[in-house]
Amino acid sequence: MEHQFVLVLNFGGQYNQLIARRVRDLGVYCEVRPHTLTAREVAALGPIGIIFTGGHNTAYHPDSPKADPEIYKLGIPILGICYGAQLMAHQLGGNVITPSQREYGNTAITLEPASVLFEGLAPDQTVWMSHTDCVDKLPQGFVGTAHTQHTPYAAMEDTSRKFYGLQFHPEVEHTQNGLAMMRRFLFDVCGAKGDWTMETYSQALITQVREQVGSGKVLLALSGGVDSSVVAALLSQAIGNQLTCIFVDHGLMRKDEGDEVEAAFSGRELNFVRVNAGERFLARLKGVTDPESKRKIIGGEFIRVFEEEAKKIGNVDFLAQGTIYPDVIESGAGDSAVIKSHHNVGGLPDHVDFKGIVEPLRLLFKDEVRALGTTLGLPGYLVWRQPFPGPGLAIRCLGEVAEDKLAILREADFIYREEIAKAGLDRSIHQYFAVLTNMRSVGVMGDQRTYDYTLALRGVTTSDFMTADWAKIPYEVLEKAANRIVNEVRSINRIVYDITSKPPGTIEWE
Ligand code: XMP
Repeated sequence: MEHQFVLVLNFGGQYNQLIARRVRDLGVYCEVRPHTLTAREVAALGPIGIIFTGGHNTAYHPDSPKADPEIYKLGIPILGICYGAQLMAHQLGGNVITPSQREYGNTAITLEPASVLFEGLAPDQTVWMSHTDCVDKLPQGFVGTAHTQHTPYAAMEDTSRKFYGLQFHPEVEHTQNGLAMMRRFLFDVCGAKGDWTMETYSQALITQVREQVGSGKVLLALSGGVDSSVVAALLSQAIGNQLTCIFVDHGLMRKDEGDEVEAAFSGRELNFVRVNAGERFLARLKGVTDPESKRKIIGGEFIRVFEEEAKKIGNVDFLAQGTIYPDVIESGAGDSAVIKSHHNVGGLPDHVDFKGIVEPLRLLFKDEVRALGTTLGLPGYLVWRQPFPGPGLAIRCLGEVAEDKLAILREADFIYREEIAKAGLDRSIHQYFAVLTNMRSVGVMGDQRTYDYTLALRGVTTSDFMTADWAKIPYEVLEKAANRIVNEVRSINRIVYDITSKPPGTIEWE
């Protein structure tokens, strides 16, 4: 690819993804690779600079992860962060100790302004520390460039070899000027030009896909979610009608969603197959109330419908998947091929014959996927879509799923989403939806006693969906949504807002 490349060598630190994010945010392309890469492999990648990540190990332990010592002889600038800095000191002949007094969290530091990394910064700063060990003797050729109360070498450098070490974490927001320091390393030390843009990357991806696929046929299960939608848009530009997208509309989508997906893709050069299978799914769900059974039935039926359609198309050469970078990094230090197990249509590769997998997003973070989607001309409603579970509204329609209940839920959910968007909260609340509980209660409407459903509104903020906070939506927004829902949707006479975080609750109700 026609852009500069920075290598992030992963020593297992919790912030490895964040380092990669920061580098790319600065307009420099980078990838996270395992620390086991040999110097020869590193040289073959041709990076303009290398960053050693942090890690929880102790550099002087015989079993701790090490870098190939030959890497230090390649003449490539290196920035070691935390464990990465300690490792560099240890491997180059310095000394690392585990002091009795450890520094953790926000820490006052004094910088040496003569260091190129700290140029223009005030000497007194606050940085984020997160390690027990520290360097207590510098390797030959190094000078100390920062200290704290307990750490004599909170930063070090050997400018002749272009090696830099930081005991603290420049990549986290708590480090006041961390991004400025990283920018200095990339631009002033490594000579980065900032040539990483989504337009150029998108063109490079298109070329890459064409090379991989040749004249082969590619099949994609399009769910309408962000990742599969962006894959569809990209492949359509790259290989046009060699691509077939199967969109199984299970009848459990939100209001208008199926039509929106069709509208976004029917105008493009690709084979778009929409299967309206709602009745089939509802028939299978009749009488089923157990949440796990509902999920299993929907997953199984999905595969059956997909297989039937795939058979009609005949042999395909490749299956395309929307795997993204966090899945890749988490599954094996950034080098192993993975098939996203929690994908909306999980299990497909076992059921369809194909020769290879096309995963064009596997090096992109979620917001880069959105940027790519925008570059490829996808509409905002697809690019900014919040996560939506594979089983769809079935797990938000508690108890038995039936068309009349789904219709009520769709309308109520639509109004709620509309009011959130009108209040400008649609990007700050990460997931929000309505749940039709299976409970009825007594109410009164215009002198009439009613006995109708209770609707629950849910809104969460989260960074990873593993834990979540309930969103503090302003009362006026909740009030407006609730008023509209009881007035505009039949069969709902009571509305509650879910103020449970995760844990102990989950985001979905089933
Ligand atoms: P929970 O309810 O487990 O949800 O806190 C965490 C996130 O996962 C989504 N979710 C699913 N996504 N298939 C999916 O693709 C599923 O079966 C599924 N169940 C939950 C949920 O919407 C939330 O974003």
